[in-house]
Amino acid sequence: MDYLEIKGGKKLKGEVVISGAKNAALPLLTSTLLSKTPVHISNIPDVADVKTLLQLLQNLGAKQTFENNKAIVDTSGVNSTCANYDIVRKMRASILTLGPLLTRFGHCEVSLPGGCAIGQRPIDLHLKALEQMGAVIDIRQGYIVATAPKALKGANILFDKITVTGSENIIMAAALAHGTSVLSNVAKEPEVVQLCEILNASGVPIKGIGTDELEIEGSCGKLLNFVDISVIPDRIEAGTYLCAGAITNSTITIKNVLSEHLKALLSKLAAMGFGIEKTSDSVTITPCGTILPVDIETIEYPGFPTDMQAQFMALCTQAEGTSLIDERLFENRFMHVSELSRMGADIKLTSHTATVYGATKLTGADVMATDLRASSALVLAALVAQGKTRIHRIYHLDRGYENLEGKLSLLGADIKRLSE
Ligand code: EPZ
Repeated sequence: MDYLEIKGGKKLKGEVVISGAKNAALPLLTSTLLSKTPVHISNIPDVADVKTLLQLLQNLGAKQTFENNKAIVDTSGVNSTCANYDIVRKMRASILTLGPLLTRFGHCEVSLPGGCAIGQRPIDLHLKALEQMGAVIDIRQGYIVATAPKALKGANILFDKITVTGSENIIMAAALAHGTSVLSNVAKEPEVVQLCEILNASGVPIKGIGTDELEIEGSCGKLLNFVDISVIPDRIEAGTYLCAGAITNSTITIKNVLSEHLKALLSKLAAMGFGIEKTSDSVTITPCGTILPVDIETIEYPGFPTDMQAQFMALCTQAEGTSLIDERLFENRFMHVSELSRMGADIKLTSHTATVYGATKLTGADVMATDLRASSALVLAALVAQGKTRIHRIYHLDRGYENLEGKLSLLGADIKRLSE
């Protein structure tokens, strides 16, 4: 099994090109099930989750090619509606096949995704919304068995909680439904917005894109003519590299980004004392004399993203003072705390709040990745720690970061991928 070996203490410099957003690419890939014609998607990150989802689409009977960050997916030959356990257990986002399969074929079987390291992650809101559209949902031997005997109908749906993939599943279901759907309390993440923009451009009239209320005029079962797609930049990868510059007190520039998607985390970096310069497609971070502590509460977009919580926690260990980090979305997204503590971090946990005592000298250690974003926090800590850090189980990292060690090496980090 691979591990990363990082020798800390090096300054970084130069530019890094940010890849397409994993969490935009995944729903866009499952939305190809709604297309009559092959769909051309560019700027797809070459990460494990994308490959897993392409494998799932292929298992359903789709034809797909994927090279140089470009995919062509043709779902005209799909001859199965069963997303089976051995793939879904590898990647929860497979649940994003539920809405498209059901709205196109009128029935499907999708394995329940189960929980994961960061929380129980129920999908009750996905299922409740589909039932309101006329679906009959049974749970049998760990599978969601969904049927829509009289096809899915447009409905007025209010989400009890804001759910990103829940919103995406229902937006895709509504795209081919019979009639108009009004979805309220919908997620406004940029990845959800891009899915709406693509469906709207492909013939599904959607009003309210970018707001928390969408009106979607279903095509009554007719498949769509998809436009070509270029995936938006990954705002979480972008934030992770900005934190790499911040934690090593270096000047680096991230390229191919949309700074309006980064507002919450840029404002926190500025509050910590870092310099931020923006252009239309790049952001440069410059060092500060003293890193100031900061209080963070994770919340839905455009608030501070939960997917950046672990990375900022690593950064806060270097602040001159105490920072409070409140994780409001997931009940167990502090798995990185014990690993950071093994490197010398001084962090106290109550139920959903971490108190990070700053100005700690981190030292290299053997640590273990537990989930995607926790593992990127360990990389950041290793960049500033004294000595060598070995990060194990980096298959977690490979799920969502394209060529991380290559990009960090280009910035001057001393990082190697080795095998146990
Ligand atoms: C998406 O997960 C992202 N994944 C996550 O990114 C991200 O952390 C999360 O949104 C929050 O922004 C993808 O887009 C593939 P939710 P998702 O449904 O959709 C509760 C990463 O690191 N909830 O918005 O699964 C849920 O328990 C990953 O790239 C219900 O109670 O998250 C949570 O507390 C990690 N019932 C809250 O809502 C439901 O039916 C938000 O979850 C659905 C969700």
